[in-house]
Amino acid sequence: MSGCTSGGRAAVKTILHVVGARPNYMKIAPVMEALRPAPGIRQFLVNTGQHYDESMAGGFLKELQLPVPDVDLGVGSGSHAVQTAKVMTAFEDICLAERPDLVSVVGDVNSTMAASLVAAKLVIPIAHVEAGLRSFDRTMPEEINRIVTDRLADILLTPSRDADENLRAEGAADDRIHLVGNVMIDTLRRHLPAAGLDRIRARLPVVDEPYAVLTLHRPSNVDRPGTFREILAAIRAIASELPVVFPVHPRTRARLKAFDLEGELDGATLTEPLGYIDFLSLTSHAALILTDSGGLQEESTALGIPCLTLRESTERPITVTQGTNRVVGTRTADILKGFELALAPAGPNQIPEMWDGHAAARIAGVVRRYLGV
Ligand code: UD1
Repeated sequence: MSGCTSGGRAAVKTILHVVGARPNYMKIAPVMEALRPAPGIRQFLVNTGQHYDESMAGGFLKELQLPVPDVDLGVGSGSHAVQTAKVMTAFEDICLAERPDLVSVVGDVNSTMAASLVAAKLVIPIAHVEAGLRSFDRTMPEEINRIVTDRLADILLTPSRDADENLRAEGAADDRIHLVGNVMIDTLRRHLPAAGLDRIRARLPVVDEPYAVLTLHRPSNVDRPGTFREILAAIRAIASELPVVFPVHPRTRARLKAFDLEGELDGATLTEPLGYIDFLSLTSHAALILTDSGGLQEESTALGIPCLTLRESTERPITVTQGTNRVVGTRTADILKGFELALAPAGPNQIPEMWDGHAAARIAGVVRRYLGV
């Protein structure tokens, strides 16, 4: 591994992209692709290894045609402090060896914040893709990651105008903020034609009739037996009317077992986590999405499919004001009330501004101007 800023290639600028957890790969893939033809840019991909199961990480890298990472830091699971510290220690060595001109981070996972802290201390400029989202709930680890990352980033690449407003309210200068749209929707649009129902029909025969898709992984939902039970009671009631398909995140799988809740899921079809295109096949043909994920709120809005968000807040309010999302909380009765409303005919749903499949091209433009290449 050698830097590209010495000798005859002095004009080449190195961008060090950081990924680590499942929701990162679909955000970085279109950005790397959009920057690929740019002469004078060398891209270097760091995988922190925050997620390490093939179904959570490796499979996505291949499916989304990301290059094999130049380095894998192999940090794995741990407490927040341990995971963050491990990424920082290993990532510092990479930055010192590669001397990048820019570090690009995406989303709001621990790897995002850890890499940003390292870059800022080494005075390396940072670009944050998906800047400005706020749930205003500091009990969410991701909210801390968002606030810290945005505070440190030099280039704030936002998916929507509400994000711009959040950043301005926190004092970010206008020239740091760039509204570019939603890069995850670039990936969704690109892969939608390959996401026919046939991909999953053989494994999940239930999809031949209307069905709902459920995902759950937030610690605030699955690490608390009382909350988890409330949600599962609602899912059982929903499943008696509409089959529910539930790809289970490893954290959730572990909690179902630990709290002895596996029997509470009668009527739902459980699967292992699915790959990107299989999951898109499942969601894009669903009648309803039930989730506590951030990304899935956006994807359901882009697909025009009703979504019930099983949380008390969202950092993506545009999916409620313009899209198909309802934030219903985690109590059984509230979820069921939302379920009744969700299946009623919906008003016209809008696709938010710049969720048009071209966010990565706009990001590449901003980055190239910043680096002068
Ligand atoms: C992380 C992100 C979250 C994101 C989610 C998507 C943070 C703070 N959280 O949460 O924002 O929405 O990823 O999945 O960064 N595990 C495995 N295999 C893996 C990964 C995890 O078995 O490949 C299990 C381990 O038991 C681990 C647990 O899942 O302890 C939680 O993983 P972790 O990366 O800490 O957080 P997530 O809940 O996945």
